[in-house]
Amino acid sequence: MDTDLLRRSFTLLTKREQRLADRFYTLLFERYPATRLLFRGRSARAKGTMLLDALVLLMANLDDEVWVQDNLAALGLRHRGYGVAPEMYGWFGEVLLATFREGSGEAWTPELEAAWTEAYQIISSRMVREVPAQADLHATE
Ligand code: HEM
Repeated sequence: MDTDLLRRSFTLLTKREQRLADRFYTLLFERYPATRLLFRGRSARAKGTMLLDALVLLMANLDDEVWVQDNLAALGLRHRGYGVAPEMYGWFGEVLLATFREGSGEAWTPELEAAWTEAYQIISSRMVREVPAQADLHATE
């Protein structure tokens, strides 16, 4: 995975942070209205923080295999607790990529498209796969 390329792209994107987050959630709720319920009660600011947290987390630790294994299963388990179903990861990834593409403007390239797609697939498949099938949905409460 080309993490240097991702980090450079990420730096550009975070300069437009709040607009990016707003756009992401607008698109997500437009295309997949079912996800709106999961974020019910959250302010726009809290939602923006969630998106940014996710990205910072990902970018900071992507190279660290031990961290990835230790943390992504737990993150996936918490997401089950939030009511996130496995198929929603595909929706979320599609909208994230669409937002990045739009937010990057002319800086967007086929290499970035491929690198972000790969990174998202790795992260989200770990989050889904490593959650035990019988996990207690309320384990994190
Ligand atoms: C690569 C995929 C994803 C990453 C890295 C990610 C990351 C995060 C992080 C870091 C948080 C903050 C709370 C915590 O650490 O538990 C969070 C919260 C949340 N995520 Fe995600 N997320 C991802 C995918 C999704 C998807 C697919 C959905 C469903 C549409 C979703 C819905 C939520 C919700 C509803 C919260 C709010 C939890 C709360 O504060 O009550 N996430 N996510």
